[in-house]
Amino acid sequence: MSYSVARPIHDAVKRQMEAETLGYNDPISIDLARESVVRWMKQEYDWSIASNSVGFVSDIVTGFGAILTHFLPPVADIVVPTPAYGPLLTVPALFGHRVQEVPSLSSSAFHRMDFEGIERALANGARLVVLCNPHNPTGRVFTAEELGRLAQLVDHYGARVFSDEIHAPLVTASVTHIPYAKVSAAAASHTITASSASKGWNISGLKCAQLIFSSPADAERWQHVADFFIKSVSRLGVSAIPAAYDHPESHDWLASVRTQLARNNALVAETVARRLPEIGYSPAEATYLAWLDCRAYGLREPARFFRERVGLAMSDGGEFSAPGHLRLNFALPEDVLRKALTALVRGAELLRSSRPLEETVTHHA
Ligand SMILES: Cc1ncc(COP(=O)(O)O)c(C=O)c1O
Repeated sequence: MSYSVARPIHDAVKRQMEAETLGYNDPISIDLARESVVRWMKQEYDWSIASNSVGFVSDIVTGFGAILTHFLPPVADIVVPTPAYGPLLTVPALFGHRVQEVPSLSSSAFHRMDFEGIERALANGARLVVLCNPHNPTGRVFTAEELGRLAQLVDHYGARVFSDEIHAPLVTASVTHIPYAKVSAAAASHTITASSASKGWNISGLKCAQLIFSSPADAERWQHVADFFIKSVSRLGVSAIPAAYDHPESHDWLASVRTQLARNNALVAETVARRLPEIGYSPAEATYLAWLDCRAYGLREPARFFRERVGLAMSDGGEFSAPGHLRLNFALPEDVLRKALTALVRGAELLRSSRPLEETVTHHA
């Protein structure tokens, strides 16, 4: 996000600098951060977790690697619904696993998990389903019903879920984030949840993400490697956790960022509806991402076209295993976003004038 950092986080990091305490972590600060995570989950999501269920890793991608290494057989099939945040697709192979992609079902670019496809993969022996909720790149927030259905399937096949909930603080006002592990006892027993203040408070460089082991057996298993992973967690990141999760000023900061994101989301929605009817699109329910189905343009790499022709940088759908799409990050100051949208429209006009469009997607949520 192109926004400044919340004052309490700034102060917490500054205090470490001023005290010149830039060495290793100390157990007291780790425990304080752990208690903050427990409080935040209760207060925000009415989710009661035990303090010994919270493990720390430098970041969520590293945490994913840890789970792939220590909680699965040496070679396992991993179900990744697509489109998916790139590392969720690429990291399993680094640890010897195989990814089974299950493309989501979408109508008017509103994404739904393909439960039948997920079930087929589980029936074929897949051991882990990767859930990303809120979802990067589509911005969907899955409902209790969807999460409950996934939990039943995973439970039936005795598999696990890695639930990446990094974007949870950034839901829009009209939707509620439900931690997947909270939907049922079965979900709690088969899930490892990944959480972090890094997206909500824009501090991904501070390196202190959390894994929540809602199964006591998993929490116990984590203890064998917990100290190793703590070594990669930054002391500055640990100091930022209570500053983000507990400090009222940080809560206010988050509320004002969410208000700004809601305005930006509406601006993107209005621009697409009015000026870009050929783009399939459904406004994000969370995150700061607009997922644009640009397949009507018939471009293999639409991001490259917009970057080279109108100077607008977006992520290409290919990174998410969904070629022909674009992901626009709208966590920008409003004037910058307006410039970005003007460039988007200009790029679309260039495309329209250069060749006839294929059949267009015209439905909008
Ligand atoms: C869904 C999702 N998971 C994980 C990450 C990366 O998080 P971390 O920096 O903690 O590895 C991102 C960053 O964009 C993300 O969007």
